[in-house]
Amino acid sequence: MPHDFMPGLAGVPAATSSISDVDGQRGILEYRGIRVEALCASSSYLETAYLLLFGHLPSATEFQQWITDVTHHRRIKFRILDLLKCLPEQGHPMDALQAAVAALGMFYPGRNVKDVENNYWSAVRLVAKLPTIVAAWARLRHGDAPITPRDDLGFSENFFYMLTESVAPPVWAEVFDDCLILHAEHTMNASTFTGLVTASTLADPYTVVASSIGALKGPLHGGANEEVVVMLREIGTADKARRYVERALQNKKKLMGFGHRVYKVKDPRAKVLQELCRRLFKECGSSPLYEIALEVEAAAGELLNSKGIYPNVDFYSGIIYDKMGIDVDLFTPLFAMARVSGWLAHWLEQLRENKLFRPDQIYSGEHNRPYVPIEHR
Ligand code: CMC
Repeated sequence: MPHDFMPGLAGVPAATSSISDVDGQRGILEYRGIRVEALCASSSYLETAYLLLFGHLPSATEFQQWITDVTHHRRIKFRILDLLKCLPEQGHPMDALQAAVAALGMFYPGRNVKDVENNYWSAVRLVAKLPTIVAAWARLRHGDAPITPRDDLGFSENFFYMLTESVAPPVWAEVFDDCLILHAEHTMNASTFTGLVTASTLADPYTVVASSIGALKGPLHGGANEEVVVMLREIGTADKARRYVERALQNKKKLMGFGHRVYKVKDPRAKVLQELCRRLFKECGSSPLYEIALEVEAAAGELLNSKGIYPNVDFYSGIIYDKMGIDVDLFTPLFAMARVSGWLAHWLEQLRENKLFRPDQIYSGEHNRPYVPIEHR
């Protein structure tokens, strides 16, 4: 057996994949060979999801069919809504999302993962229904009725409509769609790896996605975007940022939204998100959180850049969602809504040459201990 133990499997390849690539030294992220900056400039979330899932940009006919399929599967069964209604409203939306996605698997026959056509429809349903579940939960917990999706609205426009019952300004939907593109895929991260492990058992795709949602929730992964906004609010004003950062680092506290296992320069997604912040603020006025964030980045840079620690994707995304009036605890579900296309792309890739994940361990316990009866312990 091989034998260098790498905590956190750092640097250990877990799969061969052609879905995305990160150059952590140069700060480059590509989906199927296309830079994310180019996708944000010219593509849409749904087109990017197609690219990730099927490996190529769709032709006009393929794209139209994909849009039609996703649009027609946005609705969720009333029993899924009933399930959401039973959950405690103070519970975390990621738990509600995970429960609802796991429950979807009981409604749709996805167990035979060798059925290519069925797998296509599972992917369609999951991409289509996650936003509906997130929006329904966001309303139900405040005592509001869920809103039925509108087929005449695009993916991101419809999400805002389901959340607020009004059509958002076009710039919101455009900026939000770019945020979804930036969060759609990111190589072998914790939630993708979790999904792959589940996929390798030939579990159905709803179970695969539910397990990925569980891994995404943690504050070291997707949950960091919530923590960033909490931190910025706690700092309060830009002039207090430097002192906060210095004190946090003196106390060996990690700054949320900073650092990455792979990037040793500024995350390219953080750069695009800053451009999106500026685009949004031009139309809707600035955000005090953004001013604080800039100060945090400057102060943290002096202390952390030499260690290769820079802002990651979670540092600026929450500021955008906050400006759009979205509740902080919905930020990670938004991440999941986008990342589902990446998870599913890895699921399909894994199925092509599946091998059950069954890693080794280095046993550090004892052997041959006698069993001591309870009265002698
Ligand atoms: N603030 C301060 N110090 C940091 C930070 C940070 N955010 N991140 C890493 N470090 C330090 C850490 O204290 C350690 O220092 P030392 O060597 O002196 O003990 C060193 O850098 C290595 O840290 P690590 O945690 O062992 O490195 P890692 O490769 O496991 O870290 C990370 C990756 C993302 C877990 C970590 O940077 C972190 O906890 N960041 C904060 C949470 C966060 O923003 N997560 C989102 C990640 S990107 C999006 C996503 O995956 O969802």
